[in-house]
Amino acid sequence: MATVKENLLRAAELSESDSPRLDLEVLLCHLLGKSRAWLYTWPEHPLSDAQQAQFNALIERRIAGEPVAHLTGTREFWSLPLNVNRSTLIPRPDTEVLVEVVLELCPQSAANVLDLGSGTGAIALALASERPHWQIIAVDTMPAAVALAEENRTQLGFRNVEVLRSDWFSALSARTFDVIVSNPPYIESRDPHLREGDVRFEPLTALVAEEQGLADIRKIAEDARAHLAEHGLLAVEHGWEQGKAVRALFAALGYREVETRPDYAGRERITLGRR
Ligand SMILES: C[S@@+](CC[C@H](N)C(=O)[O-])C[C@H]1O[C@@H](n2cnc3c(N)ncnc32)[C@H](O)[C@@H]1O
Repeated sequence: MATVKENLLRAAELSESDSPRLDLEVLLCHLLGKSRAWLYTWPEHPLSDAQQAQFNALIERRIAGEPVAHLTGTREFWSLPLNVNRSTLIPRPDTEVLVEVVLELCPQSAANVLDLGSGTGAIALALASERPHWQIIAVDTMPAAVALAEENRTQLGFRNVEVLRSDWFSALSARTFDVIVSNPPYIESRDPHLREGDVRFEPLTALVAEEQGLADIRKIAEDARAHLAEHGLLAVEHGWEQGKAVRALFAALGYREVETRPDYAGRERITLGRR
């Protein structure tokens, strides 16, 4: 029977992965229901035959390219454990910058907030964890993503988030918000990165937009004007090469105080504007 340590030495089998050792650790923790600290405390612990067979099957799926988050069914965002599935995007670390910026720019006092294209609910739930007195609406057009965000909301016990199905603003009638935040689809349909890594297993509905990836950002920025309170904040994530175009779009639509903030790699990622 192979031990924990021996199974963690199988990184060469995951040569396509950027982080083979970490993948092995996360998958083994998931399988055994243990922490990474436990793996290092008990390296000689033997896997049972059934556990070994399950681990081998997980490694086969990882070799075929399936994201680790889909194999475990979870991904941490803003230190919140979120359920994930194939209905929407796996939350990315760079999206935490969007959460940071909104928290920085918005006072502690009560606010009505809208998260458009909420997917797992990552942004809305992260904001809810920091601002329990904010009223937050999270919308997505995909029913399975709405169900997933609601599952995450219930599991985390946030009562100040409401999850709705809506095609952008369609279900929100004349409601207005102090903050509208969105990580919408923004990848161009011919982008070769769509054939690489985790995105191959994520739905195009979460990734791709027309007009060189800008169609959804344009639609959101146009329609948000009717749903933002005076001086309300619009904050959107976009591709690292789209900052200039998004600033121009916001300015042309009359937004004020338009600026772009960088992601953790220093690339233009979040554009902000005020009504
Ligand atoms: C890039 S994902 C972001 C998910 C999540 N907010 C995050 O940051 O991890 C974009 C999300 O927008 C949703 N979406 C796409 N078109 C939409 C529309 N017309 N109305 C509402 N949501 C939409 C997708 O289903 C997907 O969940």
